[in-house]
Amino acid sequence: MCGIFAYVGMRPAVNVIVTGLKKLEYRGYDSIGISTINQSLHTFKCVGKVSELEEKISDEKLTGKLGIGHTRWATHGEPNELNAHPHLDKDNKIALVHNGIIENYKELRAELQKEGFVFRSQTDSEVIIHLVAKYYAASNNMEQAFVGAIQHLEGTYAICLVSEFDPKKIYATRKGSPLIVGVGDKESIVSSDIAPILKYTKNIIYLDEDEYAIITDTQTIVKDFHGKIRPKEVVKSSINVEDVEKGQYDFYMMKEIHEQPYSIIQTIQDRCDVEAGTVTLRYINISPGQMLGMNRIVITACGTSLHAGLVGEFYLEKFAQMPVEIEYAAEFRYRNPIIDSKTLVIAISQSGETADTLAAVAEAKSKGAKVIAICNVAGSTITREADGVIYTKAGLEIGVASTKAFTAQVTGLYMFAIYLARLKYLMSKETASHYLRQIFELPALIKEVFVDEDHIFNIANKYYKSDHFLYLGRGIGFPVALEGALKMKEISYIHAEGYSAAEMKHGPIALIDENLPVVVIALKGRSYEKILSNISEVKARKGMVIAIATKGDRAIAQLVDDVIYIPDTEEELTGILAVIPLQLLAYYAAVLRGCHVDQPRNLAKSVTVE
Ligand code: AGP
Repeated sequence: MCGIFAYVGMRPAVNVIVTGLKKLEYRGYDSIGISTINQSLHTFKCVGKVSELEEKISDEKLTGKLGIGHTRWATHGEPNELNAHPHLDKDNKIALVHNGIIENYKELRAELQKEGFVFRSQTDSEVIIHLVAKYYAASNNMEQAFVGAIQHLEGTYAICLVSEFDPKKIYATRKGSPLIVGVGDKESIVSSDIAPILKYTKNIIYLDEDEYAIITDTQTIVKDFHGKIRPKEVVKSSINVEDVEKGQYDFYMMKEIHEQPYSIIQTIQDRCDVEAGTVTLRYINISPGQMLGMNRIVITACGTSLHAGLVGEFYLEKFAQMPVEIEYAAEFRYRNPIIDSKTLVIAISQSGETADTLAAVAEAKSKGAKVIAICNVAGSTITREADGVIYTKAGLEIGVASTKAFTAQVTGLYMFAIYLARLKYLMSKETASHYLRQIFELPALIKEVFVDEDHIFNIANKYYKSDHFLYLGRGIGFPVALEGALKMKEISYIHAEGYSAAEMKHGPIALIDENLPVVVIALKGRSYEKILSNISEVKARKGMVIAIATKGDRAIAQLVDDVIYIPDTEEELTGILAVIPLQLLAYYAAVLRGCHVDQPRNLAKSVTVE
């Protein structure tokens, strides 16, 4: 995904936009651009990060009080200045930024080229600016030109446009990509997400689809595409500015790792009543009768969210005795899955904007299934597409590598499984109270893991130069291994593979030698003895073993090279607790390797394209 930011008000737009783009860089950061207007339009773009653009414009006297900016994650056209946004009309008097995919851009480009329009870039986005220019030439009215151009677009978009012909206004619209307006005091801000707006105002207008906004410093008018004004509510955001600052941390990821005790509490409180043994989920919008009619569950997601689903599978099968299938969203949507009105689909997405997961939701609904989204972003697309929502209340997650959202997602699945078990009379009040008490005790256990951070740093320091890691786990330790491996590879760029420890002897054991660190989830529980024999198999082949073990287990320390202990808890909750040291291990390895932890190469916070 890309980041869009626009400003109109009393401040020099360039300063506000550069600051805003820095807050949006996690969305995409292979190229950057800005346009401001002070009588005439001035546009600057470059490959790389916002700091490089800042350098490039440092001697420019940009005094305009209105402008737009863009951070790009390339989809069509490589990262270079020509493909960077804003895109301009041929006379450089209209500028436009876009996030999303214009699916019919090839046809539009061909038609426009036939009409004599010359394209400078390889992007899909550029077709929009030439459509606007075409309609403006015919109408001499920027609003009509904007509306006329948008009608041709198929696909997803969030768009902001400014022009010398209408120098006090920002035009904005969205479909399938988020865009929100901050209503300040004699200033307005438009952004892809709320983080950069909070510095100026907490008064928010959420743009919906099939409408557009005309934004000035003192007014935001929203209309449908027939020109009818749509009254919009101004919502006061509950998110505080400090929620979007790094504070004393070097990277957002470390801040978010440390927020997990708090985010789990936020996710469970006012929903779980330990004494009563009940879970209340207000927005699932599926009646108890309908829920009891479900005969299977399909969980679909991508990446870390899929790993949360793999942990949740254990809960739903054990507590609610429901058959569960886990589906990669990108595969699910193309496989003509056998689902019907008795299938409950749970779609997990931190951002609520992941294209593959949104498409899986659409596929599920087209086949009559009920869909519950587990999501961290209120107002995101998935929360509107699903029948019901279980909000994770992890707060803004800015680090590209998901941490607190993951543990909140697993917490949501844990709560839902208990809710379902109680609904089906499969779990007594006492048993539910017991399991709910355990989740309330989890935040304190996570804090105990933080006490061991120096030890985890030392282990990272010992192994960060390795070219490969293998992560092994059994049972609920298997998705933990997958998630630990994903964290390591996506921020340190070390090849890391998560594998079922039981499966190792069917192939991966050939990888074992004295150069391969093997992280093993070796917690007390049903598969402990078997995991010890897996460790022996690794040691017999000179592999190095880093064990994640249960506090108090002295014996394991004799068998392995390094141990990271975590407090004892219910086996089910190790699906959360055991991931914490793996998040820290990956973080420190990445820092030691000089990687940009919050903005890993090639990645973006949410993949809003296929
Ligand atoms: C997780 O660390 C990654 N950034 C990535 O796998 C992510 O989980 C995946 O893209 C799904 O994103 P979503 O939860 O916003 O749908």
